[in-house]
Amino acid sequence: MAESPSPGPLTHQKTLARGQPPPAAMTENEFQRFQALFAQTLGLSFTSEKRDLLTLRLAPRLAALGLRDYTAYHALIARPEAREERLRAFDLVTTHETWFFREIRHFDYLREQASEWPLDRKLRVWDAACSSGEEAYSIAMTLAEVMGTHRKRWELLASDISHPCLQAARHGKYPLGRGKDIPQRHLERFCLKGVHSQEGQFCIRRELRDTVHFKLINLVEPLPLLSPFDMIFLRNTLIYMNPAVRTSIVTALTSRLAPDGILFISHTESLQGLGLKFRLLQPGIYCRDY
Ligand SMILES: C[S@@+](CC[C@H](N)C(=O)[O-])C[C@H]1O[C@@H](n2cnc3c(N)ncnc32)[C@H](O)[C@@H]1O
Repeated sequence: MAESPSPGPLTHQKTLARGQPPPAAMTENEFQRFQALFAQTLGLSFTSEKRDLLTLRLAPRLAALGLRDYTAYHALIARPEAREERLRAFDLVTTHETWFFREIRHFDYLREQASEWPLDRKLRVWDAACSSGEEAYSIAMTLAEVMGTHRKRWELLASDISHPCLQAARHGKYPLGRGKDIPQRHLERFCLKGVHSQEGQFCIRRELRDTVHFKLINLVEPLPLLSPFDMIFLRNTLIYMNPAVRTSIVTALTSRLAPDGILFISHTESLQGLGLKFRLLQPGIYCRDY
């Protein structure tokens, strides 16, 4: 029987007794409620074809909490005070795919900019959807190679909505195979190969890890007060959002971008048609246009 959507404490939710069947399939009505919730809280737009995907991704939480159906789970995470469970749900429904030095041209551009950066101006970079840290460490390696690791020369904020991703990013440990796109010189200088119990993994050296400040930021909520950044990376994230959300996120980020600041999005994304004042410099690289 469907759970009432009215909010109530988790302990009041109906739970499954042992041996009861797993949660039923997500109904169209339930799917629409999740669609609305995730659009409002995350800015993500799930088209109807994504119903099975959403069902699959959320099913483990229903099972873990012993909830009978998706109505009960929706009611749970819609409650303002259920922040922790809502963050778990966010983590399950978002795509975290990433890799080191993804879209390598952007790192060539970053290196060029860093090597010409005035000595008396600190370069401030924000990686605004950093997933498990590969992108942030690619930025950090590029900057450290040119500018060193001294905090006076540059700083890097890396944020995401996913708590587990941020934890993994802070640890900076990855399976060896994930290092295949890191240039050899960076592997030698910034990475350590695991031995004994760490066999099959590598980690980012402490010196580089300490240059990155990881923080949980939801881009659809009012942004924290941050001094202007010279560069913001927001790659492979807008693609999951509808045009209105894209516009409002990029507008909010622009308010944290220096007047001569640069915005990086993916080669496969575009700011065209969003009514924003940006000029394309290279594929996926924009500067503000006045
Ligand atoms: C596909 S990954 C892209 C990672 C990296 N930028 C790259 O290009 O490889 C998208 C990331 O955006 C994050 N994300 C999605 N919606 C978000 C939001 N509203 N606020 C902050 N991060 C969000 C997800 O958690 C995920 O880690």
